[in-house]
Amino acid sequence: MSSHEAEFAKQGSDVTEARTVALGIMENVTTLEDHTLVAHRLSELRSVESDQNRFGSLVSTITSALAHEAFRNLPSKPVLIDTPVLAGAPGAAVLDEIVVVPILRAGLGMVPAIQEALPSTRLACVGLKRNEATLQPDLYFDGLPGDLTGVTVVICDPMLATGGSLGYVAAMVQERGASKVVALCILASQEGLARFVSAHPNVKVVVAAVDPELNNHGYIVPGLGDAGDRLFGLPVR
Ligand code: PRP
Ligand code: URA
Repeated sequence: MSSHEAEFAKQGSDVTEARTVALGIMENVTTLEDHTLVAHRLSELRSVESDQNRFGSLVSTITSALAHEAFRNLPSKPVLIDTPVLAGAPGAAVLDEIVVVPILRAGLGMVPAIQEALPSTRLACVGLKRNEATLQPDLYFDGLPGDLTGVTVVICDPMLATGGSLGYVAAMVQERGASKVVALCILASQEGLARFVSAHPNVKVVVAAVDPELNNHGYIVPGLGDAGDRLFGLPVR
């Protein structure tokens, strides 16, 4: 190995170690970074080659993996079902109804896959738009029930950049009494994720991958661009 290659390898392992330490203290964070199929789909999702339809379909595929991981231990009860070869075979039925809260717009793209993964859901939307100058979220629609006492809520938004938008909605649902909050994201920045986790240590986060940087405009790098625009098209600003 040349000295240049050795230095490159060392830098790589330093970065990996720093990431492992940063994610290690985040007990409630699960990533799917070791899942080859997710990595493959995520590479397609990031690519400028993926058009609107393909982007939407990839969001669904990755969201399905996130939901199955996040809710692998949902409470269930034993049931008996009839198969073509045995009547009264043992099965399981999920007990909890989950309230799905997409953050508009981009979170809407994740809803069909979550509804398909979870047997029983209710839907309630929150509309936020990040101010491009301040990067603070502005609330433009509150579609949450007034009382979420005892309810399990799953918040979905493909992008956790500064963490401001997800933090805003996590605070809203907790103020209204949600007993358990899970966040599903496709990409997070390392700094935004760390900020979110320290502000909301009780929220479980399942994210496909964590990227190293935010640029000066608050975009995740390498990221995938503007998830809302890629799902729904460029609005007239
Ligand atoms: C994007 C994204 C998140 C937010 C992430 O939405 O979908 O909601 O930005 O950024 P943050 O972590 O720094 O808050 P945006 O406000 O652009 O709205 P959109 O979904 O309508 O495009
Ligand atoms: N919102 C997005 O859609 N993409 C980013 O990279 C950051 C915020």
